[in-house]
Amino acid sequence: MTVAPHYDPLDPAMLEDPYQHYADLRENHPIFWHEGMKSWVVTRYQDCRDVLRNNELFARDRRRVGEEIPEFRQSLQTLDPPSQAPLRSLIMNAFRAQDLDAVGRRARGRIQQLFKDLAERDSFDWMSEVAAPVALSITADLLGVPEPDPGYYAEISEGIAQRMDAGLKPANIEQGDRARNQLNALAEEWFAGEDRPGVLKDIKDRAAEARMPMHYISNSTGMMFNASYGTVFATAGNAVLTLLQHPWALERLRDERLLGTGVDELVRYDGPAQGTSRVATRTTEIQGTTIEPGQIVLTLLAAANRDPREFPRPDELVLDRTPNRHLGFGWGTHACVGAMFGRVAVRELIVCLLAAPQRLRLAGEPTRRPTATVRSPGLFPVTFDR
Ligand code: HEM
Repeated sequence: MTVAPHYDPLDPAMLEDPYQHYADLRENHPIFWHEGMKSWVVTRYQDCRDVLRNNELFARDRRRVGEEIPEFRQSLQTLDPPSQAPLRSLIMNAFRAQDLDAVGRRARGRIQQLFKDLAERDSFDWMSEVAAPVALSITADLLGVPEPDPGYYAEISEGIAQRMDAGLKPANIEQGDRARNQLNALAEEWFAGEDRPGVLKDIKDRAAEARMPMHYISNSTGMMFNASYGTVFATAGNAVLTLLQHPWALERLRDERLLGTGVDELVRYDGPAQGTSRVATRTTEIQGTTIEPGQIVLTLLAAANRDPREFPRPDELVLDRTPNRHLGFGWGTHACVGAMFGRVAVRELIVCLLAAPQRLRLAGEPTRRPTATVRSPGLFPVTFDR
């Protein structure tokens, strides 16, 4: 085994641009042990994809390696096949039953209104004034729940994003757990509240028929809300920052035929999900390194998404990239269930930027949020040309 490389995802230089470091890790350290995170870190595309698609060997459900997690805590995210299958198909079917175009139209209306309100401002912060309200309204609309107060929800989401980094920053645990409790309380209100059209109502209606334990659904409600809000918020930041830094790409997206592949390429190029973990159920090997049962394996999705073995010209934005089997929405049995709606949110932002009477441009140096698992801008000052 080679000496573990220096890898600190919270280092300011890494937050600014992790991709050069990822290239070095991919070439020289396809797998290494990270003592802080007590995890094996896997950096190449094929290895990451193999881990994610082999759920038999690499579990999400820690009960499979002897951890005690009470049954009443289980959700879509914690269960593995075979018990995950009926819940996942119930939820997937509820997503498929939504009117994607109508969700897109409502998102477009919201974005246009925000742009109108912001057009006269000297400058504004894209993240808090556009990405956050767009992520909140598309998520509440899709799930069919009332929109929580934006400031209150932004704090919850921040706490949960920080909690994901607890392996690196144990101090984040307390704030993160408080945020999770606040989210659970909201989810309980939504679950017990009056039904509105949307994913949650469809899931509840079908759950009775499928004889699905109701705690699976109620536990999955808050998780789904935050999985949507957190990633749409971050993608709205990363994708638009990339486009402002590559103005030719935004112009090329006027060609509607490029929108589908273009949105996926933006998620590959600088997506929010930097990595996700699984736990080994048996002794196995990755790149000649032995993994013992019970050890955690962190697949570095964002490093994999720039692997030249899978993506020709990996560091370039190729708007018509085909095929583009990126891992930005995950892979395998826990892959994103809301990917089509995430894509719609980004597409609508692009369409509205292109239709805006004035061009959006940077109004200052953007910063990066100090979070390792979810990557997004921190402050992102912009202005519409006048
Ligand atoms: C562009 C936006 C989005 C991105 C980049 C994204 C990314 C991801 C990724 C990488 C995963 C896999 C995590 C893992 O394997 O550990 C995931 C899972 C998930 N996503 Fe998304 N997502 C997006 C939008 C959404 C939306 C709109 C929803 C709607 C509710 C959603 C709901 C979920 C859920 C529920 C899971 C967990 C699935 C499971 O564990 O079985 N996501 N997402």
